[in-house]
Amino acid sequence: GTTGHPKRSPAIDLTGQRCLAGWVRSVRPQKKNLFLHVNDGSTLQPLQIVASSGLDDPLLTFGCAVEVTGTLKQSPHQKQLVELEADQILVVGECNPVDFPFKIKERHNLEYIRQFPHLRCRTNAFSSLLRIRSEATTAIHSYFRENGFVQIHTPIITSNDCEGAGELFQVEPQSPENDEDANFFSVPAFLTVSGQLHLEVMSGGFSRVYTFGPTFRAENSQSRRHLAEFYMVEAEVSFTQSIEDLTKVMEDMFRSATEDVLAHCAEDVALFHKITYTEAIDILNRSSQKFAFPTQWGCDLQTEHEKYLVKHCGNIPVFVTDYPYELKPFYARDNEDHPEHTAAAVDLLVPGVGELCGGSLREERLDLLRTRAGLQDTYSWYLDLRRFGSVPHGGFGLGFERYLQCILGVDNIKDVIPFPRFSHSCLL
Ligand code: 4AD
Ligand code: MG
Repeated sequence: GTTGHPKRSPAIDLTGQRCLAGWVRSVRPQKKNLFLHVNDGSTLQPLQIVASSGLDDPLLTFGCAVEVTGTLKQSPHQKQLVELEADQILVVGECNPVDFPFKIKERHNLEYIRQFPHLRCRTNAFSSLLRIRSEATTAIHSYFRENGFVQIHTPIITSNDCEGAGELFQVEPQSPENDEDANFFSVPAFLTVSGQLHLEVMSGGFSRVYTFGPTFRAENSQSRRHLAEFYMVEAEVSFTQSIEDLTKVMEDMFRSATEDVLAHCAEDVALFHKITYTEAIDILNRSSQKFAFPTQWGCDLQTEHEKYLVKHCGNIPVFVTDYPYELKPFYARDNEDHPEHTAAAVDLLVPGVGELCGGSLREERLDLLRTRAGLQDTYSWYLDLRRFGSVPHGGFGLGFERYLQCILGVDNIKDVIPFPRFSHSCLL
């Protein structure tokens, strides 16, 4: 008898007329037939179109938009399952190949592509990145959903400066018609630098909350890892006792989202390393590498230090915990039991990027919070949170673009966001 598998029926329904609308990626006229590749952005692979040469049209060039009607056929070629045998090809939008900045068969690099923010979604390289970005967004929401977090839409316009770093963009009406409009909110209002404080408000009633939205910082930095507008994933977890409770969530989220996105790289993200800030400074002080910024206990870690630490620990993600108290914003929890004055804060450093996440336990003790300068006047509502059913809690923020840079090995942050904004540049 036969032991072979029963013949599988084709997964794709090959009957009936089909229509594909998309952009032409290649045109190959041959004697009898005309071969086209058309891509509609949903996948990397274009669909091969086979037409009789009678359907050739001088307007059918690389980059033009077409609507093709025809029948799906099993393809004789190994690379593709099916091809579309065209009855009709309609050029919807012409594209002069002489003026079009992308050339057929040329592999343009990301620097070149970046010069055309309005056209770059037509390249394989950039459209792939945006498809992965979209997948990663879904993967992150799925992680939180599956783990009992409630999504909070934290505001974009706010009156607080969560990080206290003076990197705020102020929001005002463009041309106030009268004095009343000039002071639209009655208080200074800014684009948010972090949704953390709003999450902390909600964590007084929901034990697990998160937000994932745009964040703004007037950082005058032309670096490969800073934007003026970026997306941040932030979570806040109540009834948290230790940094370990927090790093577990950070690690789980990173791993689960990355496994979702790159189903094959689970092994690459299996390991995380953990050191304290004090250990990090020791490592840096012992290193033979000369740093532009010298290191000593109390200094903030610069990108060069972060990259060195990641390499030193074997090029895997590294948690650095217990930073000097003075380096962290008012909300970070005081580690009173430590010999040095540190805060229960943690950064996650990753290969190729450096800092990916920043987080901390939040100071839940009213008396300790009160000692923080100015809090009484500006954040009396924040002190209230500690008066009415306060619980130990903590949270973190992950820079979504830096996450994409890390998992994809993309050198410049401007290549993983659809429309990059940074100092001296706000194109389109
Ligand atoms: O370390 P940061 O400043 O932490 C916070 O804002 C906390 N309030 C988060 C929290 O605990 N809820 O920012 C968090 C992350 C950084 O680790 C970095 O990955 C990213 O946001 N980030 C930027 N990404 C791109 N461009 C910039 N200008 C960024 N600034 C921060
Ligand atoms: Mg930080």
